[in-house]
Amino acid sequence: MSDRRDFFGKALGAFAGLGALGALYAAKRTWDPLPSVKAAGFTTVDLSKAEPNVLYTEMWRGKPIFILKVAKDDKAYSDKRLINVGGDKFFIAIGLCTHLGCIPAYFPDKHKFICACHGGQFDAAGEVLKSPPPSPLVIPPFKVDGKKVVLGEAGPEYKKLQEAGVVA
Ligand code: FES
Repeated sequence: MSDRRDFFGKALGAFAGLGALGALYAAKRTWDPLPSVKAAGFTTVDLSKAEPNVLYTEMWRGKPIFILKVAKDDKAYSDKRLINVGGDKFFIAIGLCTHLGCIPAYFPDKHKFICACHGGQFDAAGEVLKSPPPSPLVIPPFKVDGKKVVLGEAGPEYKKLQEAGVVA
């Protein structure tokens, strides 16, 4: 009987160990940055592996750039600030608070960015939810290239946002 209990104890331990490994692997995948290539002021980011509602941060000209893929059924975003990349919707912005330049944190369960410096809040498309930030998170110049985005180059999609008054 105790042999049987030992067997079940070990099997349960092995099962729990596998579960923990799986959780670690999933966590590591979301911590890994998206693959990117930098050249002469441009940064090309491959978005094909981006997971929905996971914030990726890329560096471009010394500034953090937030990249967030929208889950298909997510209504928490204001559509006019989203970018279509290879059939998926993304929010891309310079990750600096428009109040005094702190880096806001993203809370995936709340679908919002919260700035720890003075309590400013932005929705998941960078619109201000709570002052003091005076304006939305800034969308950098970008160009869509298949499933990639080139930061620093103003492509037709960026110009469309300019015409719509979404970016200056
Ligand atoms: S710097 Fe973000 S709220 Fe002041």
